[in-house]
Amino acid sequence: MEQANKIALVTGGARGIGRGISEYLAARGFTVAAVGTRPQSDAAEFLSALRAASPDSCYISGDISKADDRIRIVDEVLDRYGALDVLVNNAGVAPTVRADLLEMSEESLDRLLSINLKGTFFLTQYAARRMLEKKTDEFRAIITITSISADTSSINRGEYCMSKAALSMMTKLFADELAPHGIRVYEVRPGIIATDMTAGVLDKYSRMIENGLLPIKKMGAPEDVAKVVYALASGLHAYTTGDSYSADGGFYLKRL
Ligand SMILES: NC(=O)c1ccc[n+]([C@@H]2O[C@H](COP(=O)([O-])OP(=O)(O)OC[C@H]3O[C@@H](n4cnc5c(N)ncnc54)[C@H](OP(=O)(O)O)[C@@H]3O)[C@@H](O)[C@H]2O)c1
Repeated sequence: MEQANKIALVTGGARGIGRGISEYLAARGFTVAAVGTRPQSDAAEFLSALRAASPDSCYISGDISKADDRIRIVDEVLDRYGALDVLVNNAGVAPTVRADLLEMSEESLDRLLSINLKGTFFLTQYAARRMLEKKTDEFRAIITITSISADTSSINRGEYCMSKAALSMMTKLFADELAPHGIRVYEVRPGIIATDMTAGVLDKYSRMIENGLLPIKKMGAPEDVAKVVYALASGLHAYTTGDSYSADGGFYLKRL
């Protein structure tokens, strides 16, 4: 289902899962504005690959934990394209140190909540306000990438789990708020996906998967998440809102 003239803003869209999402959407007709913290000059290779599929797509350098940047990012998309059809909240960070719950520092909790939760919440709030300025019957959606950590305990990165659990509730709140305005709001929960974020624990997770953690015995790729996002962004689940969709190798399957 080709999505001509649809504009998607993907935070953290130039690396890892976000890059997978940006490229998958761009290859299927979306014009993509990908956001990352790195300067424009560091995103040249990514941008030329993206533009090969979708020539009007762009990269915006910005930090979603900063209020001014959030406004600038959304305004730039609307100024450039005149519309915002799909917001994909993908940007997120893991703790720099995996510390036990009893040792977690206030700084680490502040950092995780500031980027993952506060940054995503207020970006969504501002984007939603701007989207509501335009009255349209076109399909529009806000999709937030959470994690199986939204409801799975990892006591060595509790601040990450708490930030993702809060984003899961954020999805429901915006779904409720925006349903009367025709904007669908979804959560996508990846499992273990091979990116820079999991590079340091690759061996550990590979062993766990080999030993039966997942019924589908392999680590996911960014494209596995991108396919779920694409289905939601294209309106293939348009008669739902506030729901969570997994891309996790069957992590939640109960087995005996
Ligand atoms: N990998 C997994 O197994 C996994 C599993 C479940 C959920 N997730 C979630 O999926 C999302 C993407 O993860 P990933 O594995 O692709 O991570 P990643 O490779 O570390 O990439 C993170 C992305 O987020 C961007 N970002 C970080 N802080 C930002 C900020 N303050 N403002 C704007 N952008 C920011 C980064 O921008 P730069 O490129 O500029 O650094 C980068 O593009 C995250 O929300 C993560 O929690 C990942």
